[in-house]
Amino acid sequence: MEDTAGHWDSVFATKASDEVSWFQAQPTTSIRLLERWASPAGSVIDIGAGASTLVDVLVDAGWQDVTVLDVSAAALTKVRNRLGEGAEAVTFIAADVRSWQPNRTYDAWHDRAAFHFLVEQADRDRYVAMAAQAVTPGGVVVLAAFADDGPTECSGLPTSRYGTDELVCAFGPAFALEHAEREEHTTPFGTIQPFSWVVLRHL
Ligand SMILES: C[S@@+](CC[C@H](N)C(=O)[O-])C[C@H]1O[C@@H](n2cnc3c(N)ncnc32)[C@H](O)[C@@H]1O
Repeated sequence: MEDTAGHWDSVFATKASDEVSWFQAQPTTSIRLLERWASPAGSVIDIGAGASTLVDVLVDAGWQDVTVLDVSAAALTKVRNRLGEGAEAVTFIAADVRSWQPNRTYDAWHDRAAFHFLVEQADRDRYVAMAAQAVTPGGVVVLAAFADDGPTECSGLPTSRYGTDELVCAFGPAFALEHAEREEHTTPFGTIQPFSWVVLRHL
């Protein structure tokens, strides 16, 4: 396997949080969808969380059981330092989602812009199998991937692109579509990146 952790560590070590294409000042869509389809009383994991401020918003909003997972330990260190004492309330997992073995379940699984880096079918299948194992039956996956007219690469890596149907198909019969929407993300460089968002219920 290529050095995925090394690649992302060097991105997070050399670029400020607002110098990457996926930067957003507020995780507006993420929090809106999580508030609609999940509950602060339940548990949530952010897959490929990077240095996103979603965790800060969730902790501030009173979510009790928040986990962030990323292949980059450097990204998690940034988040830990930013949160300060607030980090004590958060579980940090430095792991590649393709080889991670969850040892508990979560009511909500969030992923903004990590799944689309899985360009091999075997990796996507493994990801979906992990989600099915880790998300409580009745729980939700809230996921954003590049739309079918989105970029074909990001951060020097190839990406896959998805319409709603492709995401539903990728997750298979154990997940049912609750909601879909398109978002046109404006990067800090002023370019537009179209995303497909889905909320999938684990049956
Ligand atoms: C484009 S960034 C998005 C970060 C964050 N979700 C956000 O919205 O700001 C992709 C993130 O996925 C992480 N990532 C990429 N491949 C991964 C993998 N196989 N396992 C876990 N994390 C991964 C990267 O380290 C990076 O933090």
